Amino acid sequence: MAGEQAALVTAPTLDLAAVRADFPALAQQVHGRPLVYLDNGATTQKPRAVIEALVRYYEDDNANVHRGVHVLSERATAAYEGARDLVRQLLHARAVSEIVFTRNATEAINLVARAWGDANVHAGDEVLITAMEHHSNIVPWQQLCARSGATLRVVPIDDGGNLVDEALDRLLTERTKLFAVTHVSNALGTVNPVAGLVARAKAVGAHVLIDGSQAVGHMAVDVEALGADFYVITGHKLFGPTGIGVLWGREAVLDAMPPFMGGGDMIRTVTLESSTWNDLPYKFEAGTPHIAGAIGLGAAIRYVRAIGFDAIQSHEAAIVGAAVERLRGIAGLRLIGTPRVRGGLISFVMDGVHPHDIGTIVDREGVAIRTGHHCAQPVMDRYGIPATARASFAFYNSAADVDALVGALERVRAIMG
Ligand code: ALA
Repeated sequence: MAGEQAALVTAPTLDLAAVRADFPALAQQVHGRPLVYLDNGATTQKPRAVIEALVRYYEDDNANVHRGVHVLSERATAAYEGARDLVRQLLHARAVSEIVFTRNATEAINLVARAWGDANVHAGDEVLITAMEHHSNIVPWQQLCARSGATLRVVPIDDGGNLVDEALDRLLTERTKLFAVTHVSNALGTVNPVAGLVARAKAVGAHVLIDGSQAVGHMAVDVEALGADFYVITGHKLFGPTGIGVLWGREAVLDAMPPFMGGGDMIRTVTLESSTWNDLPYKFEAGTPHIAGAIGLGAAIRYVRAIGFDAIQSHEAAIVGAAVERLRGIAGLRLIGTPRVRGGLISFVMDGVHPHDIGTIVDREGVAIRTGHHCAQPVMDRYGIPATARASFAFYNSAADVDALVGALERVRAIMG
């Protein structure tokens, strides 16, 4: 009995039925079958708490922020800034001045590439990325290198989808100005050992940017403990709205950076000759922001934190682990990426079946997965394939969802031979 009680304390659980009831979109049928939503890597569904926060803002508080002295503007500003503090708490950041709202993770990375990169990266320097990055963590660095004359270097991946450690040691040198790496690969599912990677990059004096897009909805993140300089996230993969993202940056680093875009709210003074800049984080938030998006993201963070990352992680680990084992048992199915540590994503191909056909057939069974190159074409090139099928999980997925996926893939096998 004592042992059981101890187990209850150390293994937090999640009330799956209650959680699922919070997500209206999960309760529908598609093609006459219950929806099985396994495309969370592309975007997550939204809990009612987020939808209601958006409605409440537009119905009651709709006004611009930081500008009005009237009640609605004060309420909108308080809600918007309250959301910033919720992001700070989620990421364990030191101060709200380090939390910059952007449109998405892509814009956050472009902000760093332009504002920090243009000022700090020059001919002869190197920018280091990895072969498992999303296009959003490749293209801005290619563009920066083209502008500056710096060289882009790439850490290769092994057959399992892990970074090649010895190559990292060789590629991290005093020439490395920035190391940009994903926390969790959207195409392979790999969870990178980011704290160790940051320490190694810091040992050669490099700045570090971590793309946390596929991590934040699934695990606790502590940017202070990680020790990086920048951490970027997108709201819609964290059960929040689309069109809202976040750049976390170390205050001293952000402070030394020039603005990214010019316009209202990012200035302190403007004359027709010149301008001066607002304090952090507003220096990087030109124009009217996505106020409702930030408020919705705040509601999503409240929701996820109430469930708790311990419960989320143990539930997802069990579901994803079971899915991997079941998929391995399907004839002719090959996993793309068998990383040492896997997050919530599983990529795979099937002999003789194009991934788009897999996606179309399983959709007819009610199962939503993503097929394609997942905005990670270099990963596809690494494995010599044009595309994969990808099932990606969230805490609201169940063992029954895994059964449905496996059943749908067996149907693919039956139809395609
Ligand atoms: N980057 C998102 C994905 O992996 C859209 O699907």
